[in-house]
Order: sequence, then structure tokens, then C-alpha cells
Amino acid sequence: MELIETVDDMRRWCEGQRAFGKTIALVPTMGFLHKGHLELLRVGRYLSDVLTLSIFVNPTQFGPSEDCEAYPRDLEGDLSKARHAGVDSVFVPTVKEMYPSGYQTTINVEKLAGHLCGTSRPGHFEGVATVVAKLFNIVRPHLAVFGKKDYQQLKVVRRMVEDLNMDIQIVGVPTVREPDGLAMSSRNRYLGPEERKSATCLKKSLDLADEMISRGETDPQKIKRAMKELILAHSFTQIDYVSICDPATLEDVDVIQGKVLVAVAVKVGRARLIDNSLLEP
Ligand code: PAF
Repeated sequence: MELIETVDDMRRWCEGQRAFGKTIALVPTMGFLHKGHLELLRVGRYLSDVLTLSIFVNPTQFGPSEDCEAYPRDLEGDLSKARHAGVDSVFVPTVKEMYPSGYQTTINVEKLAGHLCGTSRPGHFEGVATVVAKLFNIVRPHLAVFGKKDYQQLKVVRRMVEDLNMDIQIVGVPTVREPDGLAMSSRNRYLGPEERKSATCLKKSLDLADEMISRGETDPQKIKRAMKELILAHSFTQIDYVSICDPATLEDVDVIQGKVLVAVAVKVGRARLIDNSLLEP
């Protein structure tokens, strides 16, 4: 497994692979790999000849009140997991390598970025779209794999790829969960034992929405009220949003008629967690 730190070396390595007619899958991550990431790697490995993992804690997607420096890191552990997952190359650039002095270009996927997490994390998706576009330009993968837990991120990336005519297939992978339903996330490590128990409220609230919709409830307000009550009945929780929206535009719906995205963001202690379900009446 190659460990590559510079843009030039990464380009050269990928060009070498393409010259041999190999297809390249890219799994972009911020490291601190968990089972969710391993599933992305498994899918990437299955779908392509060579597998590239990027590990880069991207400062431009963190807001001023979010501590990018405190984001969990474990390069040694990540490299060992990557080796086991059959990764061929790992790209670990520095911040200076990705954003050299004078850097000033950003990508704004305007409308999709304005909903859900975009409301409470202004600039977040601009940071994500920009770094993903840069990684795509450096690696020039045939396909890139993202988790569906970050539904909005996946939508933003797909939109960007379509709008900017990038010739890359975007693959979405279902959320991997702990046995009690908690979605795998690097941020789960911030949870103390009691907070960890409360964190199950995200999935429980989605299951409640599923149950209400299955029973024929079409009023999103009623469902959101019930979900919020359930979440707030758990300790240490602070709701960022509970949304029932159109899965294509992410705009809130007034009546549930077809498929909807039910999405939640909840702070449990200091961990801001997200989860979602695509539900149909
Ligand atoms: O989902 C993530 O880990 C990040 O947002 C990504 C896609 C690697 C961009 O920094």
C-alpha cells in the first residue's frame, strides 16, 4: 500500500494506474476510520481495479465555532485498517498542500446546500464540495464512494458532478449501524456512557416517523412534534433540526404524499449527530 503526501505524487501514481487500463475508486474521508468507512472501502474495492483512500481533515468545512483541530485523528490505526481493507494507495496531504498560500477558489452548490445542515453550518457544504472537487481533480477516479448517512453531502456531490460535467460515477452506500441502531460516526467517540445511551434517540425518532407514516399519517408537523418529544425525553439532547422534506430538493413538504426524507441532527453532549431515513407512505 502506497502512502502519498503530495498532489504531484498522487497524480503520478493515478496516471500510472490509468496507463495500465485500471479503473480507480476513491473513498474520500477525514480519517478516524470506523466500520462505516470500511463498508465504503469494501464497495470501492469490489467495483474497481484499484482503491484509493484519502484522509484529510478539511479545515474549510468547519465553522469558526467548530474545532477542526479537535477532530479525532489516528493515522496509524487508519493505515492498518486500510491495509486490511485492500487499499492500494492512501492520500494524506497536509493543509498547505491542499490550500497553498493564495488559494481562493470555492464551489457553491447553491440551493441544496441551503437546507438541513447548511442552515446551522453555513459554509460547510462549500468546504465539502471544494475539497471533493479538488480530490476528484487530483485522483481523477472512475468512481467515488460516499455514505448515505450524509445524505445531503451525497446530494451536493452528485449535483456538483452533474453541473460541472465531471466524468465520475458517484456510489452511495447504506448507513452502517451499531446493534442498537446508532449510525456509525467518528463523532460517536465524543459520547460518554450515558450520552451514548441517549444517542439511540436519533434512530428511534426515525423509526417512530416510519411507524406513523405506515399508519397513514400525512401531516409532517404532527410527526415532527412526536419525534421532537421522543428525542427530548432522552438526556443530554439538544435538537438542531428535525425535517421531513423532498428527497430531491431537500425542501420541507406540507403533506406526505410520496417518498420523503426524514432527517435529524441532534447534539448529544458535545457530539453533533445526524441520521436520516427515506420513507414512503
Ligand atoms: O464525509 C466526510 O468525511 C467529508 O465530508 C469528506 C467527504 C471526506 C470531505 O472532506
